[in-house]
Amino acid sequence: MGILLKNISTLLTLQGAREKHGRHIVEEDLSISHKQSILIEKDKIAWIGNKLPKEFAKKNHKEFDMKGMTVLPGFVECHTHLIFAGDRAAEFEMRNQGVSYQEIAAKGGGILSTMKHTRGSSLNDLVKQGQKRVNHFISQGVTTVEVKSGYALNLKDELKVLQAVQKLEGARTVATFLGAHALPPEFSTYESYLDFLSEKVLPEVKKKKLARRVDVFIEKGFFPKEASEKYLRRAQELGFDVLIHADQMTLSGGADTAIKLGALSGDHLLQITDKEIKALAKSEVTCVMLPSADLYTRTKYPPAKELIEAGARVALATDFNPGTSPTQDLNLVGLLARLEMKMSLPQVLAAYTVGAAYALNLQNEVGSLEVGKSADLVCTPQDWRTLFYSVGEASEKQVFIRGKKAFDPLK
Ligand code: NIG
Ligand code: FE
Repeated sequence: MGILLKNISTLLTLQGAREKHGRHIVEEDLSISHKQSILIEKDKIAWIGNKLPKEFAKKNHKEFDMKGMTVLPGFVECHTHLIFAGDRAAEFEMRNQGVSYQEIAAKGGGILSTMKHTRGSSLNDLVKQGQKRVNHFISQGVTTVEVKSGYALNLKDELKVLQAVQKLEGARTVATFLGAHALPPEFSTYESYLDFLSEKVLPEVKKKKLARRVDVFIEKGFFPKEASEKYLRRAQELGFDVLIHADQMTLSGGADTAIKLGALSGDHLLQITDKEIKALAKSEVTCVMLPSADLYTRTKYPPAKELIEAGARVALATDFNPGTSPTQDLNLVGLLARLEMKMSLPQVLAAYTVGAAYALNLQNEVGSLEVGKSADLVCTPQDWRTLFYSVGEASEKQVFIRGKKAFDPLK
């Protein structure tokens, strides 16, 4: 017995976008069709079409009439710092009154201020707060959420944060170790801290199977490129996938390093030039754009249009964190991508599904609706052309994750 979603008015499978590996996306790649049905068996898509074949028809499926509904793949939120305690509202006010992010960080505020709150929170409290945030993502149609550590910056509490990620329920979660987020007060050089992470923390994370990905914040005033490269190579030797917070505030070599190491993604990329755009387009690195962080930091937006035209694969995400992007609003991200980065709506939809799935190396499981893939889907009465158009709207999305109803706006 499975679930049969019958008579779907408009189905967007994004199969075309998957076949093009998320590159050069045009409307056709949304793979739109009408009057379709989807059969879900257990957690997977068993069949898509308009007439259920005999072999499936015999079974007693639970049927839902989807007339008037649009169905599309669940959104993949591929860059968040979702586990943290406290807020940074006072700093937000200071930044608006003219103090820079770097000045605040240099005085022990910024990431280090969130570190104090996060170290001081219990596992239980972090899970409780984290679960609320995951639920909020799910209500917007998110079915996979990436979560970074990086607000504890010592062995004990970084492990606690990653344990909290493991306890989150509802959506599929992907944990990333971001110990290299800022220099904690216990260390005086970036190099010695990275050595400590390589020698003491990464092996523990590996042994306890708490994350399969390692991220580093390469930036002026944060982690230098050379030492970061050495650290990421060590992570790769241990079997981790790597990714980089790259070229956010200054052109610091993050994109170059991502390409050189074959990183899964380079994230932010505001400061890149034509040279990096061309190189990224030729590479397998997914370019993760985080425009709500650019809004909050009042910097420029990354060259998404140029990247897409050059053939790069682009993803979008919220970068949800208390400092530079205190928002979980996917509509805001999509809106900024359209308004400020001139991405087309099909490009936004592909970036939040197929592109983001690649960033997490989950392109064979999620991001498009195809037989054998996870039954992660969004069902909405909205026309697809009204997606990523308004902000502040109530969600009308019914969300299935791994074949189970995870959110229903009517309940
Ligand atoms: O993605 N760039 C580094 N990390 C975060 C900011 C974290 C913070 O300020 O707390 C980001 O923007
Ligand atoms: Fe980030």
